[in-house]
Amino acid sequence: MDRELALEMVRVTEAAALASARWMGRGEKEKADGAAVDAMRMMFDTVSVSGTVVIGEGEVDEAPMLYIGEKVGMGGLAVDVAVDPVEGTNLVAKGLPNAIAVVAMAPQGCLLHAPDMYMEKIAVGPKAAGHVHLDASPEENLNNIAKAYNMPVRDLVVVILDRERHAEIIRKVREAGARVKLISDGDVAGAISTAIPEAGVHMLLGTGGAPEGVLAAVALKAMGGEIQGRLAPRDKQQEQRIVSMGMSDPRKILAMGDLVSGEDCFFSATGITDGDLVKGVRYKGNIATTHTIVMRGKTGTIRHVEARHDLDKKPYRF
Ligand code: FBP
Repeated sequence: MDRELALEMVRVTEAAALASARWMGRGEKEKADGAAVDAMRMMFDTVSVSGTVVIGEGEVDEAPMLYIGEKVGMGGLAVDVAVDPVEGTNLVAKGLPNAIAVVAMAPQGCLLHAPDMYMEKIAVGPKAAGHVHLDASPEENLNNIAKAYNMPVRDLVVVILDRERHAEIIRKVREAGARVKLISDGDVAGAISTAIPEAGVHMLLGTGGAPEGVLAAVALKAMGGEIQGRLAPRDKQQEQRIVSMGMSDPRKILAMGDLVSGEDCFFSATGITDGDLVKGVRYKGNIATTHTIVMRGKTGTIRHVEARHDLDKKPYRF
């Protein structure tokens, strides 16, 4: 994929963030999401790829735009596109940190077409990559991470979605002597933060969305980190769905190469609200500023793009 695509992807997530951040703290998560979807979809028309949405807003009958299977882009290389116009809709609605607009891209056939269901996940940054296993106990994983970082377990922090279903994991992590950072939403940012030293977190554990697992995998690939996942179907129907995707073992552990194959991939996230990865959108009259992190798997280049937008000159009302 052409390296110039990185900047095109920045424009796409910037547009979603600029539109969505207007709804920050207004208690309207659907409106925050809808605004981001519209803007992202519009901006995709200017990107020089022949994209197919493989992770999107839902099936064709559930979502008017950015639905799974929708074609995006103005023509070019055939690519898989994964979008989450607002990762953390509740975070935006409540004005809480770590809401981001996200896009990932890879050549056709390279992204797992993750169904809309839960996935068990473990994610770590580059230092601990290769030293953890989804089926190992939290204690075992923490001991291995401690060795990899050359730090005592009590200095480690594990990020976990604050959900009832995680009570047991949280208890085990605390029992092992590590500290827990509970997040109310947004496990893409949570997973990526394990690869950002300043964020001060060393592992993500727990069950979140499967599509979010693929998005995090693309970023962690570029950053040299690791995520392992396992689809967690809720019922027979979801189990059937996995089998129909061609996965003979629905309980298979999905390694990095299963989630995103090859190195040729891009990831872009623009902050909607302030967070560990990026700052949120600021508006002042007709001027808005955005902060985006954009990554390329092939070269491992990670760029931070701070942009100043003249909203009067945009073809779209933000
Ligand atoms: P949305 O932006 O779609 O609301 O997703 C937010 C999120 O917290 C994800 O980051 C996470 O993977 C998933 O929801 C967890 O699902 P649930 O809220 O059902 O536990």
